[in-house]
Amino acid sequence: MKNFITFEGIDGSGKSTVSKLVAEKLKAAGYPAVWTFEPTDSKVGQFVQDCIRSHSDPFVTSFTFIADRIQHCKAITQWMQEGTVVLCDRYAESTYAYQAAQLEDTIKNPLKWLQDLSKDRILIPDRTFLFVIDPKASLARIQHRDELIPFEHLAFLEKVHNNYLTVSKGKRFLHLDATKSIDELVTLCYNDIIK
Ligand code: ADP
Ligand code: TYD
Repeated sequence: MKNFITFEGIDGSGKSTVSKLVAEKLKAAGYPAVWTFEPTDSKVGQFVQDCIRSHSDPFVTSFTFIADRIQHCKAITQWMQEGTVVLCDRYAESTYAYQAAQLEDTIKNPLKWLQDLSKDRILIPDRTFLFVIDPKASLARIQHRDELIPFEHLAFLEKVHNNYLTVSKGKRFLHLDATKSIDELVTLCYNDIIK
């Protein structure tokens, strides 16, 4: 059984839909489970949302995403100590993939810089699912949304997509074909978590 599971992928890849259904399926089977997300709805998380929408300096955005996560880890630790399975919609690889794309022309090796900033300050998940999809297809899925945020355009999401593939090479990661049906993806995640 895995206890701390994160869901990653570009906007519109299906993370929220699938992770919420997996949480419901776990609960229905009698496993205590909680679904959570980043950016969080704390004050820091709300500030992060403002940073994204107001095209803030990428360094400010990077530090605030990481600050939000460090704070979030306190709640995650508490849930885990209570024996609850924690499912988190976006986590550290979001920062590595998105903020490295934002910082690529500003500093050398932004990926390593961002990973070093987080090292030893955040929890390491037991499993990270990466929802892999062509950015054109994921953007098509979210065109109907009332608001598209500044990150949600093709050129940027192509970079994020490539960064995700770069940072998700270890044993912790399971790549999922996000074009499979929702039911199929829920079953794949669920079976992997309870294994
Ligand atoms: P994300 O959280 O990754 O941004 P969402 O879960 O909000 O993505 O899904 C974006 C849109 O795509 C929603 O309209 C959702 O119903 C749809 N969707 C999610 N997963 C799938 C799937 N596997 N196949 C087809 N459509 C999907
Ligand atoms: P979210 O509301 O989860 O977007 P979506 O449901 O469309 O996937 O996240 C808002 C945006 O914030 C999204 O474009 C991804 C971005 N983001 C980062 O850039 N860095 C991070 O560390 C996180 C957690 C999210």
